Amino acid sequence: MQTKKKLVVLTGAGISAESGLKTFRDSDGLWEGYDVYEVATPRGFIANPQLVLKFYNERRKEVAKAQPNDAHKGLAALEEHFDVHIITQNIDDLHERAGSTNVTHLHGEIFKMRSVLDATKTYPITGDIKIGDLAPDGGQLRPFIVWFEEEVPMIEVAAKIVRQADLFVVIGTSLQVYPAAGLVNYAPYKIPKYIIDKKIPPTDSVHNLIIIEKPAGEGMKELKERIMNYEE
Ligand code: APR
Repeated sequence: MQTKKKLVVLTGAGISAESGLKTFRDSDGLWEGYDVYEVATPRGFIANPQLVLKFYNERRKEVAKAQPNDAHKGLAALEEHFDVHIITQNIDDLHERAGSTNVTHLHGEIFKMRSVLDATKTYPITGDIKIGDLAPDGGQLRPFIVWFEEEVPMIEVAAKIVRQADLFVVIGTSLQVYPAAGLVNYAPYKIPKYIIDKKIPPTDSVHNLIIIEKPAGEGMKELKERIMNYEE
């Protein structure tokens, strides 16, 4: 049996848009209604922890109600033909619920929490986190989210995965947030690369890039047709 080709996919908020979850930077995106420094930085959490916990408690409820869409499901189905590795900036669990088995979260996970004293140990959470909820180490619990101004611990793992790709796909990200956006540059020069987005962001320097300017669900169908041909 031929070994499966390694298909590495970088996803962002746009892949979950058709599941009803808001993106960040589109019009009516989350950052239009909130000050990013208030709700998504360590100093914002120190200044107003109630606001930050409320913001993520709301996000958790929204994600719990959302269902995987055709794009999430399409990626999960590709595991039949490819060795699929998903690297997501998303904190939702829609890739996992669609059936993808190999998902690396760069920016944390909404259904996990951690102590303010320890970034490495996580605990499952489905309800709300409140002020006074403490981890076993005595620290206040906070969402397991990588905020702006914090390190991205999974970036090295992700870069290694991207370097080994046979095909590379980007779906639904504005590529504005680093270091995640920089992963695109780790994909081997010659391999085929695809980008699916309803409004393709600037990607000037990427060699061998095929553009699929469509919403994620529809774009996934086109991607499948194109890469199944590649496989042959
Ligand atoms: N189908 C495909 N793409 C879409 C769709 C859709 N239905 N709807 C929106 N998009 C695209 C937009 O055109 C845009 O390029 O998704 C992208 C969303 O970009 P952002 O809102 O910037 O989201 P993302 O790139 O994931 O943000 C990165 O920023 O605030 C942080 O930590 C947060 O992980 C997030 C990071």
